[in-house]
Amino acid sequence: MQSTREMENEIIKVSRSATLPNMNDLHGKRIVLGLTGGIACYKAAELCRSLVKVGAKVQVVMTESAAQFITPVTMQALSGQPVFTSQWDAREGNNMAHINLSRDADAILIAPASADFMAKLIHGKADELLSLMCLARPIQTVPLIVAPAMNREMWAHPATQRNVAQLKADGAHVLNVGQGDQACGETGDGRMLEAEEIVDELLSFWTPKVLQGQHVLITAGPTYEAIDPVRGITNLSSGKMGFAIAKAAYHAGAKVSLIAGPVSLSTPRGIQRVDVLSAMQMRDAVHLAVQSATIFISAAAVADWRPDHAANYKIKKDGSGDTPELSFVENPDILAAVARSTRAQSGELFCVGFAAESHDLLAQATAKRVRKDVPLLVGNIGPSTFGQDDNALLLVDAEGAKEMPRDTKTHLAQDLVKEIASRIGKNHSRN
Ligand code: C5P
Repeated sequence: MQSTREMENEIIKVSRSATLPNMNDLHGKRIVLGLTGGIACYKAAELCRSLVKVGAKVQVVMTESAAQFITPVTMQALSGQPVFTSQWDAREGNNMAHINLSRDADAILIAPASADFMAKLIHGKADELLSLMCLARPIQTVPLIVAPAMNREMWAHPATQRNVAQLKADGAHVLNVGQGDQACGETGDGRMLEAEEIVDELLSFWTPKVLQGQHVLITAGPTYEAIDPVRGITNLSSGKMGFAIAKAAYHAGAKVSLIAGPVSLSTPRGIQRVDVLSAMQMRDAVHLAVQSATIFISAAAVADWRPDHAANYKIKKDGSGDTPELSFVENPDILAAVARSTRAQSGELFCVGFAAESHDLLAQATAKRVRKDVPLLVGNIGPSTFGQDDNALLLVDAEGAKEMPRDTKTHLAQDLVKEIASRIGKNHSRN
């Protein structure tokens, strides 16, 4: 059994010394990236690069039409693998590229998928390598993921919508389309999702849905308490940990609402976000949203105090050297109030608190968990993580403490989501 001090020293040591794993969330995944004819082929280059960057092994297969839009040379250079364009490719010993390519794959991703190619897929047509390979894939073990891309009229056409419905019924995972300006000059639905969004969809596709049916409410970032129209007090917090948790919870199947203080982070896909500035605004937003939530994760660094009066005009220096008299009032404790609510006390709402400390992490986190009356409290050493992409966590519950060693916030968030999921529905002791 480690002493409190030993445990903290260990966390701080690990925090400072560990080398981070790469952002290799699709590490080891073998993806056959199929390109069909469409101007969105230009995005397939970035997509291929992004997939390789997150650790996937990418094998590109292109139709003849796709090669009109982007060359196999480009795709070979980006994937690091020779590209296949023909079912008569003599490089394969048995001359069966359609079999060999699909047997090893963890998924076939068609991006862009043209209207014509989707029509071929639903009819089981197999007159060139890509459609032949899709038909020949082991349907139970090799998922087919389709990212459509086309003009808005083509997308809206009943024939295309019928084909999409049929593709889904046949077991394919059809991604949404984006909305906006199209290469043809029109504006509407039908754009292929951006590379980053497709990678995100793949990550989500392979994430076990441990929070399916849950509604997670998360607070993230600092709050800002105005002194006058140009000054205020705030806490150090980038919001990165809270945003990573929001994304991980969404990937795990939850509906996610995010209440964010002033941060410069973009909203992860699929997440409902409300921006607030002050602790009082955050409290009001939480009270509104928490009614339908089943999990509340309070990751925000809420300012403990606010000036009791914010001046309407900028407080001016008068040259005398006198400093303004500021007095403060304590902000309400949002987490503690939610944790005291009937729904939280009855176990209908699972509450998770955070503690950013500078020292004595285990003791502080343990005491804070009891004081805030939450079943789970997540401690971290604030100064070693503020603004960083990595962190080390200490999970404290009624049973004791568990370390989550230094890692990216993305990975820690994924692990934290699993920890929360494993506790949902259990009878939680708060003592
Ligand atoms: O008391 P302390 O600020 O250290 O507690 C941290 C935890 O309480 C975090 O989960 C934070 O989001 C939450 N908190 C809150 N309202 C406050 C202060 C903290 O919800 N006014």
